Amino acid sequence: MAKLSETSSKLVIFFTICSLFVSQSTAAFSIGVNYGTVADNLPPPSQVASFIKDQTSIDRVKIFDANPDILRAFANSDIPAVSKLSAAVSWVANNILPFYPTTKIHRIAVGNEVIATAEKTLIAHLLPAMKSLHAALNLAGISSIQVSTPHSLGILSSSEPPSSGRFRRVYDRVIFAPILEFHRQTNTPFMVCPYPFFGFTPNTLDYALFKPNGGVFHHATGINYTSMFDAQLDAIYSAMKRLGYDDVDIVVAETGWPSAGDPDQTGVNMDNAVSYNGNLIKHVCSGEGTPLMPNRTFETYVFSLFNEDLKPSTSERNFGLFRPDLSPVYDVGILRNGQIAIDLSNPPRKDDVS
Ligand SMILES: *[C@@H]1O[C@H](CO)[C@@H](O)[C@H](O)[C@H]1NC(C)=O
Ligand SMILES: *[C@@H]1O[C@H](CO)[C@@H](O)[C@H](O)[C@H]1NC(C)=O
Repeated sequence: MAKLSETSSKLVIFFTICSLFVSQSTAAFSIGVNYGTVADNLPPPSQVASFIKDQTSIDRVKIFDANPDILRAFANSDIPAVSKLSAAVSWVANNILPFYPTTKIHRIAVGNEVIATAEKTLIAHLLPAMKSLHAALNLAGISSIQVSTPHSLGILSSSEPPSSGRFRRVYDRVIFAPILEFHRQTNTPFMVCPYPFFGFTPNTLDYALFKPNGGVFHHATGINYTSMFDAQLDAIYSAMKRLGYDDVDIVVAETGWPSAGDPDQTGVNMDNAVSYNGNLIKHVCSGEGTPLMPNRTFETYVFSLFNEDLKPSTSERNFGLFRPDLSPVYDVGILRNGQIAIDLSNPPRKDDVS
């Protein structure tokens, strides 16, 4: 699977912090967004925080470590190091305690799509690092910050039909069962990055975009899938269930669709981005769930907040809901009052996340 996140292609992977911006939103749904910063033209984080809080109904933000401020803080941390409790304790002291609880940090994600790196040392230290961070947070008296790690769909060896979903062999018992056990014991979610954008063919474009389509019918289960997103989530769920962990919650750490691409690129345009992200938000907040997980909502982080001009390809540069000047690329129902009034003269506020 192609990679969008800043950290996923790097060998040294640090941490991601999800901050919960307090929102006065009365919107019927709540939605998160990935705040990627592979760009040289974005407004300062403090201004972004005010904008999100005042102008949108986005109520959760996932920050990647490529943010220069975050990078500095994380420069000396990596997963193998933090798997030692003493290192985790000082990491929490240096990187969480100064900001908490002024910034409502909701979750620390250890690395991003670590299994997909195929780096044996990183993978072996992933769960120990999660456990050490959890223990260090407890020692600091913090029980409200969750520890998790996002996974790409590449962790599955089978996903079609979704009921046959299973984790890659050997990894299932050795890596995923212990990770899921950690999630069960700490009441934290398994985080996944489903991207129908990387799974569609010209024939399944409408199915990937949540547009009306003929469905994908599976005789074995009698289930007629009408969205690829549901099929991908159900494949993950089936893999978890196969190991006996269907009670662990699932969070959608990343998903999205670009609004522009290269001229010859199929399926990439503004209408399709509006369809995917707009319907995605409605769907995950509707409480409808998926065929195998009926009547559930999924905490979901859209990728991405901004168009990022330093990404390598045209489509990767155009995943954003907003331009660097904070104007919307398109609206998927997250703007307050259906319009925005931006006051660029607002001085950054000291207590905002940075
Ligand atoms: C699956 O659902 C689609 C959309 O509602 C419908 O067009 C199709 O006939 C259904 N297929 C089956 C086998 O039920
Ligand atoms: C889901 O909700 C519907 C409508 O309220 C209900 O009929 C159905 O039994 C529920 N399914 C489950 C598995 O809870």
